[in-house]
Amino acid sequence: MKIYICQVCGHLEFNAIPDKCPVCLSPKDKYAQKDSIFKESREKSPEAEVKHVPLIIVNKQCGLIPETPCVDILVRIGKTMHPMEEKHYIMFVDCYQNDKYISRVMFTPLSVNPAGCFHLKNVSGKITVVENCNIHGYWMADVAL
Ligand SMILES: [Fe+2]
Repeated sequence: MKIYICQVCGHLEFNAIPDKCPVCLSPKDKYAQKDSIFKESREKSPEAEVKHVPLIIVNKQCGLIPETPCVDILVRIGKTMHPMEEKHYIMFVDCYQNDKYISRVMFTPLSVNPAGCFHLKNVSGKITVVENCNIHGYWMADVAL
């Protein structure tokens, strides 16, 4: 798969460069191709996998938004909780549906756990979650709804 990175905000896009970054609105010339970005993280820090690969839990019984279909995509980083310290923390989690970006959760290091929730209106397809650790780079996981 082709992977492109926004060199301004770190957002990844799959398959094609967008006209502008959907996160920080930078123009397309700020994107660079980086197909091996996940492989590089795994190879650089293989022991870090358990604290970085997103753990995804799908909750199809969401009670928060009963007015409309709602499926919760619950995410924590990772199976063993990643630390959230000033010098080492998860900076953001991006969520994609069928390889298309849909939402981001950003973190500060000290007051929150590395976890988030996305409330999806449309309950089909493949969900991909990408996280970025300020030291250990990019990691991802996906799940089929
Ligand atoms: Fe890390």
